[in-house]
Amino acid sequence: MKTDEKRLKTIAITLRWEAAYRKGEHQTGEGAFLPELHTLDHDFAKALEFFGLRNGKLLEIGAGLGVQAMRYARLGFDVTAIDVSATAMEHARNRAAEESIAPGSLRFVADNILMTALQDTFDVIADRGCYATFKQWELEDYCRNVHRLLSPDGLFLLKVNAGRYKMTQPLETRFRIVQSYDTFYHGEPRQGPPAGFFILKPRPA
Ligand SMILES: C[S@@+](CC[C@H](N)C(=O)[O-])C[C@H]1O[C@@H](n2cnc3c(N)ncnc32)[C@H](O)[C@@H]1O
Repeated sequence: MKTDEKRLKTIAITLRWEAAYRKGEHQTGEGAFLPELHTLDHDFAKALEFFGLRNGKLLEIGAGLGVQAMRYARLGFDVTAIDVSATAMEHARNRAAEESIAPGSLRFVADNILMTALQDTFDVIADRGCYATFKQWELEDYCRNVHRLLSPDGLFLLKVNAGRYKMTQPLETRFRIVQSYDTFYHGEPRQGPPAGFFILKPRPA
């Protein structure tokens, strides 16, 4: 696919997510939205505990309404949370203000991981349900950008919808799979769909 065509498609997808948040589809759990969860996702919590990680710079990709990002900040991480939807990021900022999370430790940025403007590197990158929304042609850009943003000894934690397991091949060119297993999305009040969880380390550039 030509670069211009890719850019246009990426922008169209951005607009679709923005429209979905503006219409309030996240409240009804329609479309690609996951069931609401107010605690830190159990798989991410377990992985962070296993590696003894409670601080450092953490990037959350596709942060949505920011619940996970707030939990990471509460644990002690310095969190940058991105989402293509500016409306989602606005909701997330308001929620963080309501929870009185120190603004210095958590920032919500409207940014597209496929064309990211971020320049920092991060100790941990977390993605819960964003990778799973991409089409095959988007995965190479995603993996390249995540690899660039992750520090060489960093950790990439990824939760994908079960049906997207087959899409792991682009990951393996840039990341080493330390562990992967079957799991599910926690939800409140209903349990969410089955999922896969990956713990990844970057391969040398
Ligand atoms: C299935 S939702 C998951 C939201 C949240 N992580 C959660 O656990 O509920 C996917 C999120 O990814 C965001 N997203 C989709 N494409 C993206 C992209 N290219 N860059 C950044 N965020 C993106 C969407 O706006 C949406 O908020």
